[in-house]
Amino acid sequence: MPLVAGVDSSTQSCKVVICDAETGRIVREGRAGHPDGTQVDPSAWWSALQEAIAAAGGLDDVEAISVGGQQHGMVALDERGQVVRPAMLWNDTSSAGAAADLVDELGAQFWAEVIGTVPPASLTVTKLRWLAEHEPDNAAKVAAVALPHDWLSWKLTGAASLDSLFTDRSDASGTGYWSPVSGEYRVDLLERALGRQVAVPTVLGLAEAGGTLAYQGNSSALVGPGGGDNAAAALGLGMTAGDVAISIGTSGVVSAISRRPAADPSGSVAGFADATGQFLPLAVTLNAARVLDAAGALLGVDHDRLSALALAAPSGADGLVLVPYLEGERTPNKPHATGAVHGLTLATSTPQHLARAAVEGMLLALADGLDAMVAQGTIVDRVSLIGGGARSAAVRQVAPSVFGSTVTVPAEAEYVALGMARQAAWVLSGQPEPPTWAVDGAQEYAAPVDARSVVERLRTQYARAKELTLDR
Ligand code: XUL
Repeated sequence: MPLVAGVDSSTQSCKVVICDAETGRIVREGRAGHPDGTQVDPSAWWSALQEAIAAAGGLDDVEAISVGGQQHGMVALDERGQVVRPAMLWNDTSSAGAAADLVDELGAQFWAEVIGTVPPASLTVTKLRWLAEHEPDNAAKVAAVALPHDWLSWKLTGAASLDSLFTDRSDASGTGYWSPVSGEYRVDLLERALGRQVAVPTVLGLAEAGGTLAYQGNSSALVGPGGGDNAAAALGLGMTAGDVAISIGTSGVVSAISRRPAADPSGSVAGFADATGQFLPLAVTLNAARVLDAAGALLGVDHDRLSALALAAPSGADGLVLVPYLEGERTPNKPHATGAVHGLTLATSTPQHLARAAVEGMLLALADGLDAMVAQGTIVDRVSLIGGGARSAAVRQVAPSVFGSTVTVPAEAEYVALGMARQAAWVLSGQPEPPTWAVDGAQEYAAPVDARSVVERLRTQYARAKELTLDR
């Protein structure tokens, strides 16, 4: 039974799964925490990876490994391969001004068409511009720029030369200087941001090894191209065209596999590449699981009780609507909006109605993200709910009447790490397609019989209310 390893180096922690390459069954796993903050010394990720590997029983018996990670972070290296400064992560907004400047200089239409994404502050290209403007001494030292997963893969191969850096198309598509449409770097955009050329990782084929492992007792395992976490999760979930994943975490991430690249000049949809040769349009909403936390706090109840209350109220909460812009919103673009409750009457002033309105409002806000993707040509055949918010029974049961389709909730698992293990198995197999691995314990929630009218009623009352919020 050949074994493969998958890694998820996420913002909060590092997870390692070791799987049977044929079935995907997890045989061992380990994890370790990452430091907080939006600027992090990459050596902390390397320590955490080593700790997580040790907790997973080591890599001695593994035949291939792939690393997935948080997208976009800028790992700047000098000519000796040393890190120039702490990595600026996707959630570091220092480069918001640089992002606005880059969009002004070339126009949103250009970025959407050429790069697939109108760069927000998360993209690497904006961080390079920030570095050139704010830390010229550090900028002058940069000889290569990599992403978090590229750097960890490189460390695992033990290579020292900048020429041996490698990446994959999914993570490259989040840099802002690689085009998912042409499949080529746009070094002119990197130069525009930093002021000069530097080395960038080679973008490997989908199942091409970037090198061999050089880690403790193992110097023969293949190291796969890896991937950005969203594409890795899609691979772990076995998503294909028509599948949409809605992740309800701190933020909401709606992503889909699409045969065509997205190009949204409004900036709502990021047009990334996926890890299977297709595309991964993605929309982020800011108000997801924490809307449930806030409603629970308002009502003085825990998550289970909130769910039970919500399920005790009728669909549509008799017209009570909660607009969940508790943190402003990104899709639609309303950064200063606040939340609101509309439709209060004596009859709707109950904990049950408020709980229902919170669950529906959170899902309806995610539906706006999905609508932005549909407007970009995303086809929705099946919706999967993942992330902490999908644990709520009310969320699972209400979701089909908001999205108008059957909703699948896969068993909770480390899908990013599993996706990378699946990629490693693909690299090992030498086959044209990734191996078929079953996704465990998926539960299905069917759309209501009169889905169209239910969806329309919920969407209409929400659409009216969401225009009525106050800016902070
Ligand atoms: C996507 C994004 C996040 C990070 C989180 O554009 O910025 O999903 O990848 O890890």
